[in-house]
Amino acid sequence: MTFEDEIKKSKDHFESIIREQLKRIEHMKEARDWVDYTSLKPIIIGIIGGDGIGPEISKHAKTILKFILKDEVTQGKVDLREINGLTIENRAKKNKAIPDDVLSEIKECHVLLKGPTTTPRKGDKWPNIESANIAMRRELDLFANIRPVKVPSKNINWIFFRENTEGAYILGSKGANVTDDLAIDFKVITTQGSERIIKMAFEYAKKNNIDKVTIVTKANVIKTTDGKFLAIAEKISKDYPEIQWDDWYIDIMTAKLIDPARQNQFKVIVAPNLYGDIITDEAAQMQGGVGTAGSANVGKIYAMFEAIHGSAPRMVSEGRAKYADPMSMLRAIIMLLEHIGYVKKAKKLEMALDICGIYEKKVILTGRDNGGTGEELANYIMNTIQEPKLEEKWNSFK
Ligand code: IPM
Ligand code: MG
Repeated sequence: MTFEDEIKKSKDHFESIIREQLKRIEHMKEARDWVDYTSLKPIIIGIIGGDGIGPEISKHAKTILKFILKDEVTQGKVDLREINGLTIENRAKKNKAIPDDVLSEIKECHVLLKGPTTTPRKGDKWPNIESANIAMRRELDLFANIRPVKVPSKNINWIFFRENTEGAYILGSKGANVTDDLAIDFKVITTQGSERIIKMAFEYAKKNNIDKVTIVTKANVIKTTDGKFLAIAEKISKDYPEIQWDDWYIDIMTAKLIDPARQNQFKVIVAPNLYGDIITDEAAQMQGGVGTAGSANVGKIYAMFEAIHGSAPRMVSEGRAKYADPMSMLRAIIMLLEHIGYVKKAKKLEMALDICGIYEKKVILTGRDNGGTGEELANYIMNTIQEPKLEEKWNSFK
């Protein structure tokens, strides 16, 4: 191909991307109400096992969810469904991020609890298909990725609102290899996409009497897209005069999150997709590892709750799956229960997880046979939930 042909091909590609994004914006503009879970009977909760350690930790998550919602399941208020088929083997076979039949099963549910799924990359044994997470976030328009992190001993209580559908991710599988020497990726920030996540963060702060919201970008360098995100934050902040807001660049933010003089001043943190991805792993590590943090992916119609970590295929191939820590999925259940309105049950689970995972720690998982198993931890948690003086015990540790 001549240079001119290559340029033409890339221009066509760019044009199709712009058309697709403009269409998406029109879709985002359509007014839509949030689903009202009190009007649903039953609320259908789909449990997606995923792959790698996913099926193992999902099994424990399901046991605990079933235990907590025993009465609701009996009374037909809640339906727990297992969704298989979102495995890397099946996705590779169908050559799709989410095979069509699995996607329709998913769409029949109202909320989802998802185990980790392998994201292939160039050079591994799988076809280089798109991540199932990213496809699901897009298909179900799960625009807010909410990730709380707390470290009581350091007085850290953060909640991250990561934009979950656009930024560097949305065209991550649609970059252009213009020539053998020139690769270009695209980053997309829209007014509507930014407004909805930033507003959600400010609303959360307002509702929970939190007086500070922090915006993270790299607007000094990535001027157009990050610049837009920051400008929109500035505009929205004017509607919340009672909330202070500040903005940090992603590089210094990663430093300040571990700075004892600064870290506990952050509260609600909002970031575009990729920066949110990076700092939430950092934050989770401070809490005790990515295995300890849960993640809510929320849209107006659907919501999906998951572990923030990957599928750890190495643990499976080394025969260590049963030592995998289900804590991250269990933290995700807290958010799921809150989301569908079971706030008291969520609180109970949170207290039990704090006791078992942070304070008392009678079962410690190391990922290896010198630590406990996921099943032992699940039993410990269920025993703890049933303790008559759960709240007193929890308070005594704080
Ligand atoms: C996450 C994960 C995903 C992401 C991967 C699995 C695609 O790291 O949920 O943070 O990058 O968003
Ligand atoms: Mg991540």
